[in-house]
Amino acid sequence: MISFSLPYWYDLHAHFRQGTVMADYIQAHINMACAGILAMPNTKPPVSRVTGSAADEYWTIESYLKDLRASGGHVFSDIIVPLYLTQDTTPDMIRAGTQSGYLRAAKYYPPHGTTNSDHGFPLRHFMENGVFSAMEETGVVLCLHGEEHGLTGSDYFDQDTNAEDVFYTRHMPVLVQKFPKLKIVCEHITTRTAVDFVSAQGDNVCATVTPQHLLYTAGHLLQGFKYHLYCLPLVKFNADRAALRDAVTSPTNTRFFAGTDSAPHAVKATACGCAAGCFTGNIAPQLYAQAFEDSGVDLATKNGQTLFQRFLCDNGPRFYGLKVPDKRFTLKKTPSPVHILTTREGTDITPLPLGMGQDTLPWTLER
Ligand code: DOR
Ligand code: ZN
Repeated sequence: MISFSLPYWYDLHAHFRQGTVMADYIQAHINMACAGILAMPNTKPPVSRVTGSAADEYWTIESYLKDLRASGGHVFSDIIVPLYLTQDTTPDMIRAGTQSGYLRAAKYYPPHGTTNSDHGFPLRHFMENGVFSAMEETGVVLCLHGEEHGLTGSDYFDQDTNAEDVFYTRHMPVLVQKFPKLKIVCEHITTRTAVDFVSAQGDNVCATVTPQHLLYTAGHLLQGFKYHLYCLPLVKFNADRAALRDAVTSPTNTRFFAGTDSAPHAVKATACGCAAGCFTGNIAPQLYAQAFEDSGVDLATKNGQTLFQRFLCDNGPRFYGLKVPDKRFTLKKTPSPVHILTTREGTDITPLPLGMGQDTLPWTLER
């Protein structure tokens, strides 16, 4: 049986929400051998201030971190909470935030473009109001949800264009030209366009890739309308998935790394639409391993295992300046069942492959 060990890894993009259920989502990350997490700030209310206590309209990074730790996150060796960039974010907040030690990253959301992104503000605003300058100067990482907002349906997703394509061709070249030293993570990229853009940049520009975008395409979403695969950015075409697979499995890959975008939703389908987000807590390393094998990587070989480790465990921590832990876990090529997560509030969260009709994983994780 194939079996290999890896250092504990960091999920450098995941959602833990707020309230008592945070503890269930954090436990799911502990169960899958995470050394640490980057916890997204699109909570209700958003994490849009840095220090001090939370208020009705916002969390602060300081207060949200406290909650994450009190909900079981104290076992992680590190937690990064990016600041949600809103209309009220100022260059002074960035400078003072860096001084405080709490501010390490900030998140751009396309206004109204995805779950809880209503506080987002157009990219140009931060290019012009000094926020990106201050981030470039202080080394605060820009976490980017790279999709153009406000497009018509036919431009949003078409054969030759989509919201991510537009964002990476219209805005990103300008952004890196104006702020050449800004540290950027192009998050959950889904297109060949984004892969090509990131590949053409220097060491200050990286990307995260989710399990679902490596495993599936729009065809999988549409065949039977598998709404558990509905996330944003949307899964795309074969050629896009091939570009993502090539990027993450390349022997020269130093800048593409794991960030699951695991996003729990107790209610996916509603009367007037569908909540965006795929839950991959508990099982992401197994899904990534499956995706590497689907990409033609032989995980029975040392070479294949090295490529996998770079993507899952090494590249991300190096970029964020996190310590790769001594503690290790094992992946074994033996089937394991996928379970629904029932939270302490009694809500059910269906993990992605179960929502696709797959109730067994080819890999088992032991820690
Ligand atoms: O699919 C998504 N779900 N994309 C996002 O950008 C947000 C996330 C969520 O918070 O559920
Ligand atoms: Zn996300």
